[in-house]
Amino acid sequence: MTQAPPPQTQVPPPQEAPIQHGAGQPLPWEPVLMAAVGRPGGHLLADYLSRGGYDGLRRAVAMTPEDVIKVVGDSKLLGRGGAGFPTGVKWGGTRRNPGPRHLVVNADESEPGTFGNRYAIEADPHGLIEGMLICCYAVGIRHAYIYIRGENLAGAEKLELAIQEAYGAGLLGTRILGTDGLDVDISVTRGAGAYVCGEETALMESLEGRRAQPRIRPPFPIEVGGGLFGRPTVVNNVETLMCVPHIMIRGAAWFSSIGAPACPGPKLYTISGHVNRPGVYELPMGTTLFDLIYKYAGGMQRNQKVKAVSPGALACQLLPGTDLNVQMDTATLTRPPHWHPPFGPVGFGAGGIIVYGEETDIVQVVARASGFFARESCGKCVPCREGTHWMGDVLGRIAHGHGRPRDLPLLEDVTRNIGGRKTLCALGDFSVNAVASALRLFRPEFEAYVNGGSR
Ligand SMILES: Cc1cc2nc3c(=O)[nH]c(=O)nc-3n(C[C@H](O)[C@H](O)[C@H](O)COP(=O)(O)O)c2cc1C
Ligand code: SF4
Repeated sequence: MTQAPPPQTQVPPPQEAPIQHGAGQPLPWEPVLMAAVGRPGGHLLADYLSRGGYDGLRRAVAMTPEDVIKVVGDSKLLGRGGAGFPTGVKWGGTRRNPGPRHLVVNADESEPGTFGNRYAIEADPHGLIEGMLICCYAVGIRHAYIYIRGENLAGAEKLELAIQEAYGAGLLGTRILGTDGLDVDISVTRGAGAYVCGEETALMESLEGRRAQPRIRPPFPIEVGGGLFGRPTVVNNVETLMCVPHIMIRGAAWFSSIGAPACPGPKLYTISGHVNRPGVYELPMGTTLFDLIYKYAGGMQRNQKVKAVSPGALACQLLPGTDLNVQMDTATLTRPPHWHPPFGPVGFGAGGIIVYGEETDIVQVVARASGFFARESCGKCVPCREGTHWMGDVLGRIAHGHGRPRDLPLLEDVTRNIGGRKTLCALGDFSVNAVASALRLFRPEFEAYVNGGSR
């Protein structure tokens, strides 16, 4: 049997970003996650059904729940939200714990440089609903919740409309597709406007009506006492769940043959910064940074060289512009040589790539990034609450030309006291990644600032 080629497509970036829609590299392959982009009414149920929509669910309910989980496990789908946890393992672990169980969709996506979920939801909300229903069938879940970033009003409206359509067509509610045992209700909650709301336990606190602060683990969300309302809970990213219907239709072998063998499948890369065509690109996981920048995102503005890249938005360590042959995927960027003690992996996060041209002032970049994390720290644990502000203050001083030579070892000391898994959630580690890697890669620029010049 001929295998479907890997997916590849380009969609326009957020309205504010300059782009010529549809320009650039020809799109020889059929898109999968972005199939609805550019189709008038592509977000509506009628269009989704005309594209074979809900056939993945039909296939799933013809199997046992255990077999569905096995197919998802065999596909080697890793969560797309940042931690890269195997989805089949998460589903299987939750199912083994007693019900009632819940599904929470993480559509918070609040980090600068990430916007793939936003496009996926607005383009194809039924793709997400179908992925959720397959998860609910496999894990034995009655109630599912979508937690969407509060500012993404268009996405929330598209989801509400799609949910109404699904109820009307018997795809939500009781006896879905005429089956005994698949009863699912979905509700949408708009987020409370903080980056930490995307951390899965803070998200559940917020859903339960409390201030979004991460919980102490264990118990983990899949366990009794650790999930939503104390029940075993699957928390999955939007993109993760949108892969699932395609796995059910085309098979685990198809999915695991796409891109990087250790973390395969289609990936929504979001590219911003000094490239000519920023946007969302659906490509095989493991596409090289060089191809992403020069083949798809139109190369660099004014033909400048790449100075550095944030591979997973602000939360990850910087890659130097000399490292363009690196494969952009979870596995590659979390193992040597992309591992820098004591801070750990460079990281891939959710694949939000920010490209900095050679004219970029890296000191200014990390000073701003640091300010972001200081503002977003929830304050629950000391190293992050205190350290992010110290870091922000020292970097702000340096960036404004008032730094002193002793600020650099001080900065390093602060990063070491926050980073390396010393905090309750990963925001602490995220906050030091850009700073520590910039000090490692671009130290002379910091020295120029503290010795009296701006660079
Ligand atoms: C500060 C912080 C913010 C996060 N924001 C998001 C987010 O916006 N979306 C997301 O899916 N995961 C986010 N995560 C990761 C989630 O905690 C969790 O790992 C993920 O939702 C699990 O889904 P997955 O297995 O499908 O990747 C964040 C983590 C941290 C520490
Ligand atoms: S690391 Fe920061 S954001 Fe996370 S719990 Fe601690 S203070 Fe809150």
